[in-house]
Order: sequence, then C-alpha cells, then structure tokens
Amino acid sequence: MAYETIVVEHEDHVATIKLNRPDALNALNSRLLGELTQALREADANDKVRCVILTGSSKAFAAGADIKEMSQKSFVDMYLSDFFGSEHDAIARVRKPIIAAVAGYALGGGCELAMMCDFIIAADTAKFGQPEINLGVIAGIGGTQRLTRLVGKAKSMDMHLTGRFMDAQEAERAGLVSRVVPAKNLMEEAQSAAQKIAERSMLTTMAVKEAVNRAEETSLAEGIRFERRLFHALFSTEDQKEGMAAFLEKREAQFRDR
Ligand code: HXC
Repeated sequence: MAYETIVVEHEDHVATIKLNRPDALNALNSRLLGELTQALREADANDKVRCVILTGSSKAFAAGADIKEMSQKSFVDMYLSDFFGSEHDAIARVRKPIIAAVAGYALGGGCELAMMCDFIIAADTAKFGQPEINLGVIAGIGGTQRLTRLVGKAKSMDMHLTGRFMDAQEAERAGLVSRVVPAKNLMEEAQSAAQKIAERSMLTTMAVKEAVNRAEETSLAEGIRFERRLFHALFSTEDQKEGMAAFLEKREAQFRDR
C-alpha cells in the first residue's frame, strides 16, 4: 500500500517503518498515525515479518503530536474523537516486537511513541522530552505513566514539569533506552538486533513480550505466576525440544514456530 507520511521497507524478516514528514520533524498528525497503525497491523499479520523497527530521520524521530492540527480543537472534539486513543490501543496490541531506533528529537507524543515500542536504541544525537507543559497541556498518549515506570518519579516529574530534554547518555543511565550507539551506526545496530530476534521462535518471542509487559501491569506475585505458566506451556512446543536438543548436539537450532 502507498503511504504519504511513512515509508515501509522489508529486509529479510524485518519490516522497517520510517516516519516521513521531514518538513514538520515527523510531527504526528492523524494521517501519519492512521498510516502507522495500518502498517503495524499489516506487519503483525504478515507471516514473513518477525520483528519491526520504527524510526524517523537523523534530525527527529518525532517532535510530538502535530501542534498545528491540535491547536484549534475543543474539549468536545478531543473527547468525542477520543484523540489518539484508538491509535494508542492499536499499537499496544501489536504482538510482534517493535524496536524504536531514535535519532534526534523524540518529544511529547514522539517520546511516548518510542516508549510504546518494546525497547529503544538511541543514537548519540537523541533528545527525549515531554515539553507539553510549554503548550498548556500534559502528555496524552501515556507519557506520565510510561516515563515514570521507566525512569522513576524524580526524573519523570522533572521532565514533565520543566519540559527539559534528556540526552541519549542520560536516557541510557536512567533506563529509558537500552543502548546508545554512534548516529551513523543506528540503523545497522537496530537491524542486527531485529535479525537476532527474527531468528528465534516466534512462540518464545511473543511469550517474552507478553511476560515482560505484564510486569508493568500487575503485582510481582501475579507476574511471576503468569511467567511460570508461560514457561511451563512452552514445554508443549516443538521449538523447546529443538532448542534444547540443538544445544546438547552443539549445533544451531532450527525453529519452526511450532
Ligand atoms: C507541528 C512541528 C512540530 C510539532 C516541529 N514542527 N515540531 N509542527 N507540530 N510538534 C515544525 C515547525 O513548526 C517547523 O515548521 C518545522 O517543524 C521545523 O521546526 P523548527 O522549530 O523550525 O526546528 P528547530 O528550531 O530545529 O526546533 C526543533 C524543536 C522545535 C526543538 C523540536 O520544533 C519544537 O520545540 N517543536 C515542538 C516540540 C513539542 O512541543 N512537542 C510536543 C507536542 S504536544 P515550519 O513550517 O515553521 O518550517 C504532544 C502531545 C502528545 O506531543 C499527546 C497527544 C494526545
């Protein structure tokens, strides 16, 4: 399908979705969010795709929700359309792993979108922020909740109340991103992580995603019970037999998602 605001490319089993509104630093307007959710749904449904990379340009992953589009909206407009609600839920429902490869600005909704991905690989040029307070609003697609879970209350309050930006090194120290790499290596690093993920059984990949996400939503005791049940269940799969046999026979496992 032809998109106007994103570019989708496939390499081996990895789909890369590139946000592509360079004139607006990839600001998230409704067209872009519609296309993004459509592309993610397609990737999730496509058996050939085993991992997704979401990225932007070297200057901006995304500089937030589109302020031009939002500026004249009323409470009634926002509430009745449940602004960004269905897109948020559609992205959260994707079962395949999504890696955010972030260079440049990831601000407001852009930072929130990156945090919705399963992990973030940051270029050393990345800048994260929740500057909505400067516009007279607050984060609206999970920023106050996800950033707080990721970096703790002190830094989250600081970011949301002052609107300051966090550079890539601080973001890594704080636990917002999993790794920082030189900007020129960003896509290579993301592609190599995605390829590694793509080589594993989709059963275990999806189980990991479900179990880790459960940690954010439930108590420790419930989360551990959930993990244990999934762990037990994987012993019903051919891929568990293959993975362990391959180790014992000192060869590469051939997973078949069975
Ligand atoms: C619409 C945007 C935009 C945005 C940048 N642009 N961010 N347009 N919405 N969020 C546009 C600018 O208007 C400009 O267009 C062009 O992109 C280049 O931006 P500049 O400001 O000229 O670039 P620069 O001086 O390098 O500054 C970069 C920047 C700054 C620091 C990222 O653009 C900025 O502060 N942007 C806004 C960041 C922000 O407040 N984000 C939160 C949005 S609210 P023209 O046409 O003038 O060239 C949000 C809420 C989420 O995200 C919740 C939703 C439910």
